[in-house]
Amino acid sequence: MLIAVTGGPPDMAGRLRRKFTFEQLGKYCEQYELGLLVTTPAYYNTPTSRIAGWQYKAQQGKSVWQKTKVRTENAVVYDAMYLEDLKTYKRAYKQLRRNLERFKTPYFNPVLPAKDAVYRVLEQAPLRYGRLPATLYNVTGADVLRMLQESPRIWLKPTFGSGGRNMAFIERLSPRRYRVAADRFFGKRVRQEMDSIELRAFVHAARKQRNYMAQEHVSLLKTPEGRKVDFRYTVQRAETGKWDVVAVTGRFGALGSELTNFHAGGEVKSLTFESEERKAVLESLQLPESSLFHAGNLALTVAQRLEQVHPTLGVLGIDVGIAQDKTQYVYDCNGRPGRDILTNAEVDAAMKSVAGFGKFLLLHHRAPVF
Ligand SMILES: Nc1ncnc2c1ncn2[C@@H]1O[C@H](COP(=O)(O)OP(=O)(O)O)[C@@H](O)[C@H]1O
Ligand SMILES: [Mg+2]
Repeated sequence: MLIAVTGGPPDMAGRLRRKFTFEQLGKYCEQYELGLLVTTPAYYNTPTSRIAGWQYKAQQGKSVWQKTKVRTENAVVYDAMYLEDLKTYKRAYKQLRRNLERFKTPYFNPVLPAKDAVYRVLEQAPLRYGRLPATLYNVTGADVLRMLQESPRIWLKPTFGSGGRNMAFIERLSPRRYRVAADRFFGKRVRQEMDSIELRAFVHAARKQRNYMAQEHVSLLKTPEGRKVDFRYTVQRAETGKWDVVAVTGRFGALGSELTNFHAGGEVKSLTFESEERKAVLESLQLPESSLFHAGNLALTVAQRLEQVHPTLGVLGIDVGIAQDKTQYVYDCNGRPGRDILTNAEVDAAMKSVAGFGKFLLLHHRAPVF
């Protein structure tokens, strides 16, 4: 059985996308001869050996969710908790993770460690199809000033965070003048020129809130109107345990923003399948089709490398930036990639992989031997 843990029933009123997602998952679980139970962390943590939830059934071509209780033996858990679910079930979720570890229940996805730890894994050997931007960890104001002597544009990034929050883009204007731009820096928009002392104080203040890394800026491709573009590769493992590209999403930043994140006012276009839209996007960026294939290989290499360290990893969102000289860079890996940027066809493919990978883990997962 596959147990999908999420923030509530699969057929919440008014949440059509969510309903569709779980129905697709139910359909593919049936194909893989796995049952599907959708539940919440609160139900999962009840002290009995049976947990309550909504079980998927297809009846006369219709999807039905039956409230029921099932045994958890021989189950694989799919963590489908997104940001709002995590807020609702903060404590129950922590308890759930502890229980899964304690009872050695196979589950995915493991929570990825902080960005700096992920980068250190990726840095161990060169990536065949692209690069990581040069990165310094746990930086102080002095480190940032030093890095700016070498690279005129850098990013100051928190090791924990998402959606482009609390990140700053810093540009050296002259030997001792800098411009700092941040759209969502601890709730504020920053557009400020600073001297070395002010910049040092800025980094110092940020460091009080979070651990920061500094990263070389990639001069991203731009649309003819000047919007920054990058590519989100949603990659997943399916029933063979091998990684595959489920979706390629072009992300277009708002005009004047350095951020391409959808949740920072960006826009997305699906580039997964051949289409007029994909052709038009590639043409406007003067990119050949082969660049997307190449970036896909880069994303798959990154996923394989992370899998070495996290063997039950099955879902990743990898952000690939292509520089104006066409060099490809990976600057972010997400263990819980957003589904709201996916089309229905891509959600369908994603759920097929989730069901397939659930099956794979059930068959191949070995509890660690101590
Ligand atoms: N090294 C970089 N070069 C160019 N743009 C970057 C770089 N790092 C981040 N960005 C921009 O900032 C956005 C957010 O950064 P990211 O590292 O993905 O953090 P988050 O986890 O908040 O999404 C990226 O989507 C991209 O638009
Ligand atoms: Mg990102």
